[in-house]
Amino acid sequence: MTRKEALNSVKANVENENLVKHMLATEAIMLALAGRLGEDEEEWGLTGLLHDIDMELTGGDMSTHSKLGADLARELGASEAMAHAILCHNPAHGIPLETKLDKALFCVDPLTGLIIAATLVRPDKKLAGLEAKSVKKRFKEKSFAAGADRQQISQCSELGLELGEFIELGLKAMQGIAADLGL
Ligand SMILES: [Fe+2]
Repeated sequence: MTRKEALNSVKANVENENLVKHMLATEAIMLALAGRLGEDEEEWGLTGLLHDIDMELTGGDMSTHSKLGADLARELGASEAMAHAILCHNPAHGIPLETKLDKALFCVDPLTGLIIAATLVRPDKKLAGLEAKSVKKRFKEKSFAAGADRQQISQCSELGLELGEFIELGLKAMQGIAADLGL
């Protein structure tokens, strides 16, 4: 599967532009994280790009979300490791995170939401001027972007990254595709 094929498939299955942008942001951070950890960038990036491909098809039903996504990813040619990461990123299934790829997708997913929320409260609503220390501050405000699960983000520690470094890496990765994100 090429990146273009994956993106085309995402766009064919997802109408909501913000959801597509969420997957692009997840891809960007997964790529950066793979680079940081010396992992397979292509595999990690594509996993991030595809991970919520079934969100609209499942109507957001958490009992089927990510099961269908894993199947769709397999049909597109994803490896079993990629499909497993997609399957277990939805905690509703209670499937343990096993590999580094599983753990990475799990903690990157909510980080994108926190960074987007921290961007949207800025007067210019732009990623460019956002600093990691502001995101860290927002992280500590429990009521801010409460949907971005802090405990889940904190699991970057399972990959040997401190929260501060993880936030910096994620922010930089998203700033790198700011134009695609429209932020
Ligand atoms: Fe997601």
